[in-house]
Amino acid sequence: MHLMVDGLKLYYVDCGPRSGPTVVLIHGFPLSSDMWASQIRALKGAYRVVALDLRGQGRSDVGDGQFTLEFLVDDLIALLDKLKIERAILCGLSMGGYVSLRAIERHTNRVSALVLCDTKSEADTNEGKVSRAASIKAIKKEGMRAFGTSFLESAFSKTSLSNSALVNTASRIISRNKPLGLCGTLLALAGRTDTTPFLPKIQVPTLILVGEADKITPPELSRRMHTSIANSQLQFVTNAGHLSNMENPTEFNACLLSFLNANVRY
Ligand code: MLT
Repeated sequence: MHLMVDGLKLYYVDCGPRSGPTVVLIHGFPLSSDMWASQIRALKGAYRVVALDLRGQGRSDVGDGQFTLEFLVDDLIALLDKLKIERAILCGLSMGGYVSLRAIERHTNRVSALVLCDTKSEADTNEGKVSRAASIKAIKKEGMRAFGTSFLESAFSKTSLSNSALVNTASRIISRNKPLGLCGTLLALAGRTDTTPFLPKIQVPTLILVGEADKITPPELSRRMHTSIANSQLQFVTNAGHLSNMENPTEFNACLLSFLNANVRY
């Protein structure tokens, strides 16, 4: 299905019962909603599940490649408006978590619960910005496949890297992206705001999930968010790095479902 925003076609999946609460899955960089395949299967019996390909990635249009994280939040709200979803549970991984945190900061009443996976509230440091610049150069020079391989080497745990089916699935999702879209997304990530000061104001049920071997957004960053968000729950996903939902879907889904079943009212 597609949503039109600013003349761009944005792709999304919408499944599960229309009457139940809605979980919106927001993917990480440099992937697409395809990374949520296992969660969609696990949730769609009881929840309406919406998964969007963010502007510039997956099957969504790239446009001129110039956008900021604010555009990604605007696109998400436009999708909720189109689907007439008043309030949703936002579940975002890494970049998806950045979008979720900024969405609740700007549109507090549209969010009924948060699931923050392998993410953080801090903006990029100077070092982080320099590394974005290097990634843009690498994508332009070496292309998507090489960039995908080096990304997965730091994203996946050692165990996951030895699982060739998993590596192939993730590589396929990454290499469907277009260089212009990913470079635009890297600039948007480098320019995003810091949502840390907003954390103590979050009042909705919040689950924080992190792969115990996450090197990109290490568990320590999740612990900090847990300390700042009142009544939040923190769970570690074993045998998983940065893409914990793909690396250990059984444990990830069990944590997610138990949080939703306990905290989200019909
Ligand atoms: C992601 O997984 O979304 C990215 O690693 C986030 C980032 O680069 O900051």
